[in-house]
Amino acid sequence: MLTVFLPRGLSVLEISEQDLQTSNTLGLPARARVLHIRERSALAELSALVHTGERVFVLGGGSNVVMAARPQCVVAKVELRGVRLFAQEPDAWIVEAQAGEPWHAFVAYCLAQGWPGLENLALIPGTVGAAPVQNIGAYGLELAQCVHSVLAWDLHAARQVALSPAECSFAYRDSLFKRSAAGRWLILAVRFRLPRVWRAQLAYPDLQRHPLLQGSEVSARQVFDAVCDIRRRKLPDPAVLGNAGSFFKNPLVPVLVAQALQARYPGLVGYAQAEGQVKLAAGWLIDHAGWRGRRIGPVGMHAQQALVLVNYGGASAEDVGHLARAVREDISARFGLVLEQEPVILD
Ligand code: EPU
Repeated sequence: MLTVFLPRGLSVLEISEQDLQTSNTLGLPARARVLHIRERSALAELSALVHTGERVFVLGGGSNVVMAARPQCVVAKVELRGVRLFAQEPDAWIVEAQAGEPWHAFVAYCLAQGWPGLENLALIPGTVGAAPVQNIGAYGLELAQCVHSVLAWDLHAARQVALSPAECSFAYRDSLFKRSAAGRWLILAVRFRLPRVWRAQLAYPDLQRHPLLQGSEVSARQVFDAVCDIRRRKLPDPAVLGNAGSFFKNPLVPVLVAQALQARYPGLVGYAQAEGQVKLAAGWLIDHAGWRGRRIGPVGMHAQQALVLVNYGGASAEDVGHLARAVREDISARFGLVLEQEPVILD
């Protein structure tokens, strides 16, 4: 156990070197100095540590990270737990979940309590606290649409703030938290606004086609089950095959660029967005370029979903970087599109 002595008479933080291979869903071997945040009393000391010049990386479930073998920072693992009905508004429930709650279990709990609204986001790995960072989204729903507020600790200013959705600057796979310097924000809890009048969100093509959702009256439980079923068929379970979900973002391009590409590649999948933009399916591009099911050493692009990079066992961050680079260069050469990596790098 390494103890770090802090200035201004504060007590000590218990930081110890730990193995992080099972704390990242890609299953990459890593060791780093780790601090477990189980209560808020550690936060002021953590801010003091940041002021000594120490780099801090805030880790949730490790499902959106590529870890180097020896990250040169203190990894703060957020393990705050608890869910409560924070408030009841005339038209909505406000539910608060602490950052360390596992996301999927939280979605299932809300459904069981009669607070539906999050079921399109079922089975996404990771924690509640990590969800706003990349504004998780799936099957026609983005987290941003359900957020009431985010409670966060500003590590630089050493104070807690409550941020509205607008202040979080949510965008596709992006937020204030992702854009800020790593180690600036530690999300403590998220409050969700779940309307009492529930409406099924079934616009996503996979949901429209799903056998469970063909009746005229569809329940939240059926949407939850259908989303779980689709994800289990398409996406590898990180407990079985290491992965970090989608490895690249779907590129957003102006409608004219999308039209030109679709004229050349008639099967290219794109979804119209606001402001004259189209979101192209990176999975289609990678698949069409021949990468689906292709391996380089211990890593490859998944056979059922070419957007997911998988670790077949024994991979390092370098193996992941090598494959990611090869895919990006190929997509750039073929389609003139730059793929942006989705998982963050911890080095
Ligand atoms: N496609 C292919 N080949 C592939 C993969 C996809 O042709 O190998 C095509 C599909 O046929 C489909 C289109 O591409 O027409 C889109 O595929 P999919 O519905 O699987 O969704 P995606 O755009 O690849 C995004 C999210 C996923 C999310 C799904 C469902 C991103 C980066 N990824 O994937 O999120 O589950 O939509 O909403 O936006 C994650 O972040 O880890 C993740 C899985």
